Amino acid sequence: MTQTTVADLATRLIHHDYQPPAGFEAPQPAVHKASTVFFPNVAALRAREWKDKSSYTYGLHVTPTTYQLEERLATLEGGLQCLLAPSGLAAIATVSLSLLRQGDEVLIPDNAYGPNKALAEVELRHYGVSHQVYDPLDPADLAAKISDRTRLVWLEAPGSVTMEFPDLPEQVRICRARGVTTVLDNTWGAGLAFAPFDLTGDGSLSVDISVHALTKYPSGGGDVLMGSITTRDQALHLKMKLTHMRLGLGVGANDVEAVLRSLPSMALRYRAHDLAARELAQWLGQQAPVAQVLHPALKDSPGHAHWQALCGGAQGGQGAAAGLFAVVINARHTQAEVDTFCDGLRLFRIGYSWGGPMSLVVPYELASMRERATPHLKAGTVVRFAVGLEAVEDLRRDLALSMERAFSR
Ligand SMILES: Cc1ncc(COP(=O)(O)O)c(C=O)c1O
Repeated sequence: MTQTTVADLATRLIHHDYQPPAGFEAPQPAVHKASTVFFPNVAALRAREWKDKSSYTYGLHVTPTTYQLEERLATLEGGLQCLLAPSGLAAIATVSLSLLRQGDEVLIPDNAYGPNKALAEVELRHYGVSHQVYDPLDPADLAAKISDRTRLVWLEAPGSVTMEFPDLPEQVRICRARGVTTVLDNTWGAGLAFAPFDLTGDGSLSVDISVHALTKYPSGGGDVLMGSITTRDQALHLKMKLTHMRLGLGVGANDVEAVLRSLPSMALRYRAHDLAARELAQWLGQQAPVAQVLHPALKDSPGHAHWQALCGGAQGGQGAAAGLFAVVINARHTQAEVDTFCDGLRLFRIGYSWGGPMSLVVPYELASMRERATPHLKAGTVVRFAVGLEAVEDLRRDLALSMERAFSR
C-alpha cells in the first residue's frame, strides 16, 4: 500500500484493501462488533426484517455473535426463542414491563430475588401495576391470590438466599388452569438441574418464559453481567422483543464472547460447584454454631421432596443442584460474631453473586427481606455461601478456622 497524504492515509485505514486468507475456522466463533450494519442498497434496507433471525439491521438488535448465544441458550433451556439483556435484572424487568399494563397484578414468591420484588414495589407501582407476595411453599396460597387482574406469576426454584424448593409443577398447573402466564427465574437451575419447558418429562407441562442471569454459571468468571429471556411461545417472544427493542437493551460483543467461551464448560463447572457445596453444607450441618442448613438436596431442607421430584433424576440419580446454600447460625450467637466469622474467612470472599471460580459469603438480615412469617426457618442469622471451584478441603479448613475464632463462646 502506498501512502501520499494524511487524508489518503485516513481513508486507506478505513477502506483497507488487505483481506485475510480465506478458510479460517476455529473452535470459538468470531466476535462481531457493530452499531451500524451495512445494507448493499436501499431496497435491501427496506426489505430486511429485524424481528426474526433471517437478517441484520442494527447492532443494538442482533449481530452474528448475539444470534449464536441466543440460539445456544434456547437449546440449553429447551426453548425456541431467546433474547439477551444487559443483566439478569434487566431480563426480569423486560418481562414484567412487556407483559403488565395499568390495572394488572403480578404475583411474586416471598423468597424471590430481592430486586425483582423491589421492581414491583416501586417501578411497576408507578405504572399502576400492583403486586402480591405469595408463600412459595404453599400452592394453595398461590391459587388463592390469583384474581381476574393477575397477568403474570413469577416463580423461583429454589428461592433466593433461603433456598426453599417449591412444588414447581403444581404451581405451573395452578397458573395454567387460571390462564395466567408463568415466568421462572431459572438462574439456579441454569438449564442443567431440570428442564423448565418440560417439567414432567413427557412434554405436557412447561413454564411460559424462563429468565436466566447469565452473570452466574454461563459466564462462570464473575466478570460479566448479562441476562436472557427464553420462551417456546412465538407470540410472547415477539411481544417481549418489541419491548426489548423500545427499551434499547443491547449487550456488548466482548461480553457475549466471554459467555460463548464459557458455555462449553458449564455442565462440568456446575457439577463441581454442586458436589463441593453439598459436601460443605453437610459438614456445616454438624458444626455446633449452625442451627440449620438450607440446601434443597439435603433431606431436612424446606422443599427437599420437591427438589428430589424435579431434579433428583439428573446425573445418574444423584440429582443436580447449584453450588449455593445457606446456614442459619444459632441465635445464641450475636450478629457481631457472625460478622467476625465472615470477615475471618480467607478463601470465601465477601461479595454478591455466584457461579464464578471464587467462593463467596454474605450474611443476610432475613427480617428485612420477607413479608410473610417463616416458621420453617430456625431463629438466627442467615449466612449464604456460593461455593467456587477451589479444593473442598481448603474451603472446609477456612470455614473451620474462622468458626473456631468467631464462635468460641
Ligand atoms: C436468582 C437471581 N436472579 C437474577 C439475578 C440478577 O442477575 P444480575 O446480577 O445479572 O442482574 C440474580 C443476581 O444475583 C439472582 O441471584
